Amino acid sequence: MKRIRTPKFSKPVFTCGEGVRFATPEVVASYRAGRLKTGVLADISCGIGGQTVCFAEECDKVYGVDIDGERLECARRNAGVYGVDNITFIEGDALSPQVVEQIADADIIFSDPARPATEDVRQTDSLRPGIPMVLEAYRDVTDSFAFEAPPQMPPGRIDFDCEREYLSVDGQLNRLTLYFGPLKGCERAAVVLKGDMYYRLKSGVAEPAGVVETDEPLGYAFEPDPAVVKAGLLGELADVLDSHVELVRIDAKRSLLTSDTLLDSPFFKHKYRVLDRVPFDCAKVNRSLMGYGIGKAVIRFSVAPEMYWDVRNRIEDGLVGESTAHLYELSGEIHILEKI
Ligand SMILES: C[S@@+](CC[C@H](N)C(=O)[O-])C[C@H]1O[C@@H](n2cnc3c(N)ncnc32)[C@H](O)[C@@H]1O
Repeated sequence: MKRIRTPKFSKPVFTCGEGVRFATPEVVASYRAGRLKTGVLADISCGIGGQTVCFAEECDKVYGVDIDGERLECARRNAGVYGVDNITFIEGDALSPQVVEQIADADIIFSDPARPATEDVRQTDSLRPGIPMVLEAYRDVTDSFAFEAPPQMPPGRIDFDCEREYLSVDGQLNRLTLYFGPLKGCERAAVVLKGDMYYRLKSGVAEPAGVVETDEPLGYAFEPDPAVVKAGLLGELADVLDSHVELVRIDAKRSLLTSDTLLDSPFFKHKYRVLDRVPFDCAKVNRSLMGYGIGKAVIRFSVAPEMYWDVRNRIEDGLVGESTAHLYELSGEIHILEKI
């Protein structure tokens, strides 16, 4: 066991093995604790306690359970670091009747289960403890459950009657939380955490409407936050923007919303002015960038790793200027978008 400083936590925390790597960052843990504030909450796979200490700041009483005694000891010490004294720690298998019995007064069962280090396709049934087993083991305790699941999983692959909440931190997809029973507030949600603020977008239907698609970006383009994209809530985003927007599907992973007006939203990761489009030719891209006084280019299209620096150097050759352009490929052309 050691005590380390990490950007995940505001205080140096105790950790062992890969404990800190799998721990919930404090900013996410605080948001989730606010949402799950209750009388008695049990975190039944608490690890080094990153999430548990934040629950303890919001709830009257918290249980921290883990099958790994060393991690549980880290969690106990981290409770001291965070100055909370309302956590009862239990070492054991969360699925065993002995543990279930000890936490029978819990209003909410929360689990951030262990998952295999790598998996070709993320599955809910490779989680430990498994979600169906936890629902079954605690069915006489409560019907309010929340689980963390791999955020790479699309909403359609989660075969439970629950809310699927995708969360991003500073524009990066970070967590997926599933809320069951009375905790379920909708079918799908996207939460964007920016500094101390959070913004939430939701849909009450399992298959939300999409957005009209186009191959022609209008005057402005907006990169939607990855939590919104992953939750499949681009239609909801278009609705709240209250302005005509269309969708440019760049490739399987990337999409942009586009409009004739400059819009603003916490659900945008980047905003762009659409400058130009040129054939896929580095010299032509470079000439266009120079003409617009762009100083730096960010390549947002696929380039073979061994070609990357050659392409980048040819595109940025001789550029001077303060502004940055993002370059997207669409139908064999490079679209030059100036970052606003
Ligand atoms: C992803 S970590 C939890 C991290 C935690 N949220 C944090 O912030 O530190 C998953 C934990 O589940 C524990 N675990 C796996 N199976 C378990 C079981 N059957 N009962 C209790 N804990 C279990 C592992 O030991 C591991 O510490």
